[in-house]
Amino acid sequence: MLIDGILRKSIESHCNYEVKIINQTLLPHRLEFISLESFNDCCKAIKDMWVRGAPLIGVTAAFGMFFAIKENPSDDNIEYSFNKLLATRPTAVDLKWALENIIIMIEGVTKKEKADLVWQFSRNLEIDSIKQCSKIGDYGLEIIESKYNNKTINILTHCNAGWLACVDWGTALAPIYKAYNKGLDVHVWVDETRPRSQGAALTAWELSKHGIKNTLIVDNAGGHLMQNGEVDMCIVGSDRTASNGDVCNKIGTYMKALCAFDNNIPFYVALPESTLDFSLDSGVNKIEIEERSSDEITSIRGIDQSGKLSNVKITPDFVKSHNPGFDVTPARLVTKLITNKGICNPSTKSIRKLFK
Ligand code: MRU
Repeated sequence: MLIDGILRKSIESHCNYEVKIINQTLLPHRLEFISLESFNDCCKAIKDMWVRGAPLIGVTAAFGMFFAIKENPSDDNIEYSFNKLLATRPTAVDLKWALENIIIMIEGVTKKEKADLVWQFSRNLEIDSIKQCSKIGDYGLEIIESKYNNKTINILTHCNAGWLACVDWGTALAPIYKAYNKGLDVHVWVDETRPRSQGAALTAWELSKHGIKNTLIVDNAGGHLMQNGEVDMCIVGSDRTASNGDVCNKIGTYMKALCAFDNNIPFYVALPESTLDFSLDSGVNKIEIEERSSDEITSIRGIDQSGKLSNVKITPDFVKSHNPGFDVTPARLVTKLITNKGICNPSTKSIRKLFK
């Protein structure tokens, strides 16, 4: 998508094994590209959330496996690297999906060939992710167009499921980019998404940079706006979708789905097939929810008066906190799933039919 008129991607690989990412912890204040040059770089980038968002975590993990094998192709190191990468972010299933596919692919292959194969796999994943997100955008656009009556259409989204969370286009934001590019009058309500504020720091930034109207709201405002007829639909992303259509996404998604349900507002979830977890027949209480540092709740990150990025403490040290990173929205609260293969009901039958 565009940043000040220039086409950018969240991760870019080039020949000579060059992999570049945007350090997303510095956004929206600074746009800095950094190179990933080793297995440890990739682990750190995922764990410290320089890259985040399910599809982007998956692509970065694949490049991580490439570096691991290039550095040391022994079976022991491959096993160690697989487990280390898997532990960096446990909820988003794209990571596991990419790693497992790599392990299957390199079985029986000579040590010399392994690294080349994984490099090619990772580059293909990068390209496929763009294609899949673009398809999600096309299918989602059909939904937006079907509800559009030449007046501003107001869409609420949670967290960041835009191009920054993928390689390009995004999942939840892909239909919005397609609608905007086609000339539809779209406006996005951007949930702040505490504690890490991906909405405030990333979604509002990427939409604005592309020229799309958006308004930042606190996480608690969505229900009020829905009651007052100011939201036409919600579109969110997914970190893991069980085979019955239960959706695990950023903490707070469930509450927005409940509000949408109560106000008869369609609630769509946009996802690529790598986010489907067919090993789970349902998602509630069955998905490992990442527990994140309490610092994310007890302090706020931003730019201070001297222009320096810093953390400001908002509670005294004796305050305890609990910080689950994700929650599960039951399928009954989801109107439709928008996937790269088409639109389907959030049900085992409908998902199976689309992804045979
Ligand atoms: O903790 P994050 O920033 O990695 O969480 C991201 C989300 O929850 C997104 O909504 C999800 O990954 C879908 S992204 C296309």
